[in-house]
Amino acid sequence: MSIIELKNVSFDYKNGEDTSRGVKNIDLRIEKGAFCVLLGHNGSGKSTLAKLLNGFLIPDAGDVTIDGINTREEKRIFEIRAKVGMVFQNPDNQMVASIIEDDLAFGPENLGIPPEEIRKRIDWALSAVDMEAYRSGTPYKLSGGQKQRVAIAAILAMLPEILILDEATAMLDPKGRAEVIETAKRLNKENGMTVVLITHYMDEAIDADDVIVLCDGEIVNRGTPKKVFGEPELIKKAGLELPVASRVAHALREAGYPLPPILKDEELVEAICQLK
Ligand SMILES: Nc1ncnc2c1ncn2[C@@H]1O[C@H](COP(=O)(O)OP(=O)(O)O)[C@@H](O)[C@H]1O
Ligand SMILES: [Mg+2]
Repeated sequence: MSIIELKNVSFDYKNGEDTSRGVKNIDLRIEKGAFCVLLGHNGSGKSTLAKLLNGFLIPDAGDVTIDGINTREEKRIFEIRAKVGMVFQNPDNQMVASIIEDDLAFGPENLGIPPEEIRKRIDWALSAVDMEAYRSGTPYKLSGGQKQRVAIAAILAMLPEILILDEATAMLDPKGRAEVIETAKRLNKENGMTVVLITHYMDEAIDADDVIVLCDGEIVNRGTPKKVFGEPELIKKAGLELPVASRVAHALREAGYPLPPILKDEELVEAICQLK
């Protein structure tokens, strides 16, 4: 059983007479422990898909199943929300308390978790995002990257099975972006966390196990980064660009230089050095 399963899922936003497409005919399975990157132009349906995964939205048609639970099962919606942790774009909107450890305690307290257990979870979550030193500090003084790491820790304190980062790096500087991506990769590798990283930075998809490309609410390509970025026409048609190294390699290939498919800057440099 895949931890995430969508069968022919469609969802439209209805506003009086108006309807706008959210997502359409999505068939998708994501395996436990995968590091999956979801790409798509602005308005392609990425956030809609994310909200369908945690039961915030219920499909108009089709079924979303998380760890065997259908999101239509209203009685189990809190179980689903606990399994699917989401981190959003704006780090300042995600803090509820003025002391970091209180912020992390908030979710588990609401679930009625005993204080001793909460303390253990906070210790673990702060160390998982490398923020132990800030435990009794205030979130307001942190950098954007540190705030997003605290937001991730607050989600981890709920012991989720799946971590969804919905453009969680979009408002960060390059250093903050790198910290958050590094944290997500580590949680995936060391804790076996299933990660769904939603981004429009192509470079963040290079190391993924699985890349999914959305365009106008539909999945238009899926596979390893090598496969997905090895099909530049599809990427372009989806309104996206290739990662920088792939783009340069592609341009050189079109100019007659025999370069292999390339994802990373180092690979590009090496391949160019080997050209005669
Ligand atoms: N609350 C909403 N009401 C109406 N339309 C919406 C709403 N949220 C999103 N949409 C529409 O659904 C489509 C997909 O949006 P979204 O999932 O937010 O895309 P993305 O996250 O990829 O930018 C867009 O056309 C958007 O305008
Ligand atoms: Mg979005």
